[in-house]
Amino acid sequence: MNNKGMPHLRVNGERLISSIREMGAVGFDPQTGGRTRLALTDSDKEGRDLLCRWMREEDLDVKIDPLGNIFGVRDGSDPSELPVMMGSHIDTVRDAGMFDGVYGVLGGLEVMRTLNQNKVSTRRPLALAAFTNEEGARFQPDMMGSLYYTGTVGLEELMSAKDDGGLTVREELERIGYKGNETVRAGCYIELHIEQGPRLHAAGLPIGVVEGIQGLAWWTGEYCGESNHAGSTPMEMRKDALLAAAELASEAEKLALRLGKGSVSTMGRISPKPDIINIVPGKCSFTLDFRQFESGLFEEGKREVERLITSCAEKRGLKCYFKKSAEAPPVVFDCGMAGLIERTASMLGLDSKRMISGASHDAQFLSPFCPAVMIFVPSKGGRSHCPEEWTEAKDLENGCNVLLHSVLELV
Ligand code: GLV
Ligand code: MN
Ligand code: MN
Repeated sequence: MNNKGMPHLRVNGERLISSIREMGAVGFDPQTGGRTRLALTDSDKEGRDLLCRWMREEDLDVKIDPLGNIFGVRDGSDPSELPVMMGSHIDTVRDAGMFDGVYGVLGGLEVMRTLNQNKVSTRRPLALAAFTNEEGARFQPDMMGSLYYTGTVGLEELMSAKDDGGLTVREELERIGYKGNETVRAGCYIELHIEQGPRLHAAGLPIGVVEGIQGLAWWTGEYCGESNHAGSTPMEMRKDALLAAAELASEAEKLALRLGKGSVSTMGRISPKPDIINIVPGKCSFTLDFRQFESGLFEEGKREVERLITSCAEKRGLKCYFKKSAEAPPVVFDCGMAGLIERTASMLGLDSKRMISGASHDAQFLSPFCPAVMIFVPSKGGRSHCPEEWTEAKDLENGCNVLLHSVLELV
């Protein structure tokens, strides 16, 4: 039976929210009010164990792939069909809110629970995915699970990525027991997510139909000058590596403002060495994140960022080393899938708006691989990647109902 036979079917909003809260307690820090489940840490393992238990309780066939991506499959009556896949991620940044990623995974689980409770059988199978290391907060590149899943980057390259302490993805994946050898191929993919930006909340709209995602490029680098005495080294004789990073931060801001059209640049990590009050910093490592939706401007922005990194070193006679640590091109989602989300929202009496995602998501790499789309719900005040991240219960329930009925149209 499809939704034509059950237009009144609805998810259980309370059950969804209670599961989001339970997952949100994993890695919770009462001091900051946030939770931290950096990829492949003990708290990520705890979150994974909870998710796998919930999947098994719904009789989903749990499969883990070689990069630790988790899939839960619900059979359809036609085994020759590829599954309709829902999903997102359960790893977090440091001191995160409880919705980023988790909403898409537990929203998909709530769809499975609703179908099971109402004994709805489908022709196509359904799959729920939790991709490894979407955030890239510990290991770069970000969206590692979907990079591997779609064959965009090879397993060996991703497995050898190291964290700040020199531990590799391979070591940590083996340590937490999530290196599998199975996979599940998607026929199409829908990712439910909080917007993480201010637009839906400001417009008072419950649903965003996501038409595409802006391109992302990350660099990590280091300026190398000379450590020296803070009191006795005249200003004109210094080779201060922190000042080059400071100038780069300011130049990167000017670049984003000059390119405009939503361009954004961020330097989220700057680390002077030796990091002592009375020493001119001889070294300074940094990260830079640049994003833009239009391909031409994205390319120009990337070229300009690399020119700025170099010129900020040259001006001060410093050495500089840098590499691109992640890149995800801008994508435009399948227009048929976007139309489906829009029609479903309208069928449920929910106003929607078409939009481009500012944040990156696994759907970005799934998109060239199979028809993909995303559904957004409002983020209060546009806050995200911080403990203040918030989405109202009704909005969570509405988005999940759009997911349920979009899926029912596809199966
Ligand atoms: C992922 O959360 C990103 O950085 O967009
Ligand atoms: Mn996310
Ligand atoms: Mn995130």
